[in-house]
Amino acid sequence: MTATREPVLSVRDVSVVYETEQPVTAVDSASFVLHRGEVLGLAGESGCGKTTLAYAVSRLHQPPARTAAGSVLFHDRDGTEVDVLALEGEALRAFRWAKLSMVFQGAMNALNPVRTVGAQLDDTLRAHDRSMSRQRRRARSAEVLERVGVDPARSRSYPHELSGGMRQRVVIAMAMLLEPQVMVMDEPTTALDVVVQRDILREIVRLRDDLGFAVVFITHDLPLLLEISDRIAVMRHGRIVELDTAEALYRRAAHPYTRQLLGSFPSLSGERGAFVRTGVQEEVA
Ligand SMILES: Nc1ncnc2c1ncn2[C@@H]1O[C@H](COP(=O)(O)OP(=O)(O)OP(=O)(O)O)[C@@H](O)[C@H]1O
Ligand SMILES: [Mg+2]
Repeated sequence: MTATREPVLSVRDVSVVYETEQPVTAVDSASFVLHRGEVLGLAGESGCGKTTLAYAVSRLHQPPARTAAGSVLFHDRDGTEVDVLALEGEALRAFRWAKLSMVFQGAMNALNPVRTVGAQLDDTLRAHDRSMSRQRRRARSAEVLERVGVDPARSRSYPHELSGGMRQRVVIAMAMLLEPQVMVMDEPTTALDVVVQRDILREIVRLRDDLGFAVVFITHDLPLLLEISDRIAVMRHGRIVELDTAEALYRRAAHPYTRQLLGSFPSLSGERGAFVRTGVQEEVA
């Protein structure tokens, strides 16, 4: 499955304020619609509010951060509409991971160091569905590890026994475990070397093709976004200033800031004007 026109998440006029001594409106009336099966890139320079927006959508903000305005609607596969900003307690817990999951920067350090990979996957499955048998939990854990390119035998390993790339794959497996319809990924591979990054990103796009989840993918790396995204939203000073297909954005960026952002990557200017979006499955020329 690839991108559709069917919405899975509608973010409308979301504003987030850090209520510090000098309150900062870090996200200012941001709106976008994420389509089922789509990879939506979110680009913009450091401090423009990407992580703040991702946290708002994932309901991860703690004071002093406050989602001050707007709405986030999740359109479930069965037709139910979920008002994400209104979720509380058990309903919020059930929503997270099962409907929408997150992989954040340095998430690989969030694994519990004293529990094996298998035990951590098992905990998540058990917390979600108490009626699931041990055998089925094992099978599901093995399946997701295999999907992200980790030998299921690694279930018995502790996080420190794995390379950084493997740990990050495990975190992605964890995020996929309950078959969410949306995955929010904030710089999920920046701590890794470039070759490992590319491998993992290829894997994510392949999985999207197979499983049909949608991805909000955040990174500074605009060339990378052009390669893997169906559409790209460009943020500046807390606002989404442009949102278009990767091709259109590259060919005729409407907003001067987007042009500037594109221009700041030498590999994307000059001769590379003939850039063709190849998709991550293919090698980039
Ligand atoms: N805990 C906080 N308290 C106050 N202000 C904050 C806090 N966290 C972030 N901000 C401010 O909110 C704005 C947006 O930050 P955010 O981390 O969302 O940007 P970003 O686009 O994710 O940047 P980067 O690309 O560096 O990750 C920045 O101006 C930042 O200073
Ligand atoms: Mg950030």
